[in-house]
Amino acid sequence: MTAPRHPGLTDRFGREHRDLRISLTDRCSLRCTYCMPADGVPWLQRDTMLSTDEIVRIARIAVEMGIDEIRLTGGEPLLRADVVDVVSRLARLEGPAGRPELSLTTNALRLPALADQLHDAGLVRVNISLDTLRRERFHELTRRDKLTETLAGITAADASGMEPIKINAVAMRGVNDDEIVDLTRFCVDHGYQMRFIEQMPLDAGHTWDRQQMVTGEEILAQLRAEWTLVERSDRGAAPARVWDIAGTAASVGVIASVTAPFCGTCDRVRLTADGQLRACLFAREESDLRGLLRGGATDEELADAVAACLRLKRPGHDIDDPAFLQPDRPMSAIGG
Ligand code: 5AD
Ligand code: SF4
Repeated sequence: MTAPRHPGLTDRFGREHRDLRISLTDRCSLRCTYCMPADGVPWLQRDTMLSTDEIVRIARIAVEMGIDEIRLTGGEPLLRADVVDVVSRLARLEGPAGRPELSLTTNALRLPALADQLHDAGLVRVNISLDTLRRERFHELTRRDKLTETLAGITAADASGMEPIKINAVAMRGVNDDEIVDLTRFCVDHGYQMRFIEQMPLDAGHTWDRQQMVTGEEILAQLRAEWTLVERSDRGAAPARVWDIAGTAASVGVIASVTAPFCGTCDRVRLTADGQLRACLFAREESDLRGLLRGGATDEELADAVAACLRLKRPGHDIDDPAFLQPDRPMSAIGG
């Protein structure tokens, strides 16, 4: 008989948490304007970052509680030197529901070197960030001239057998909103799954402007002008609404975090690279698991801390509320 899920994974609003996102580092090889400043990033200090043993211990406790999906994020998770080892150790964990499904969000730059090893180590799928297919624009947007390398990384992930390959783009007015159809066609042609994301107030520069944001409805209108879309009904707790593109084998998704929040079905909890557990991207509180770990806490005490963190989870992110406060940490230090 398998153990039941830990009641502490269910919050006050009845949401059952199944998905743990672990940030492996806050460092990144790009400097996307909606995420990081050009320079002067206040990096996390080395000694505050969790060791691999510490990450695996927290993940093991979470999986034993009933977490069955683990997503590795950053910054850029592939900058962690021992990322293949992290993947193979996490892939072997076992909980009441069996082994967790492992995925990773990446900018793809290190995938030509690592995709095969990652796949062999147990990584089943990747989400790759790609906001434009134009070299100059890519350079401006990420402050690095790396489009060719990014595309090579996508090809490498595909060739390694990881499946599906999801491509994420943050839609930005006057920046890449004229490429919504082009990006989607690129994915249709290659058998990848395109996901557009509404920009959220998570940039280090705090320049996000609700009026400027390209909405999910606008994205959809552009797609509908090009294709016939048939909505899928099996959304579950997934942030994306997904449409099949008639006449192709492909689908396209829209993550309307701001205009159509999906907080009511959220099943995610996040661990930062410095060992703080966050019940929400936009949480203003963190639970200091690193302090507990290094203070000699037992597995049970750590599980209790996870449950306590989720008890504080609010019903929604309130981005559209005038009183909304952006979290102190930028996305790169929280992890997508
Ligand atoms: N709004 C929406 N998505 C964002 N990402 C990073 N910053 C933001 C933001 N402010 C996305 C990246 C990547 C994933 C980790 O999160 O494009 O796909
Ligand atoms: Fe790096 Fe991702 Fe932030 Fe871009 S969005 S700077 S790829 S962490």
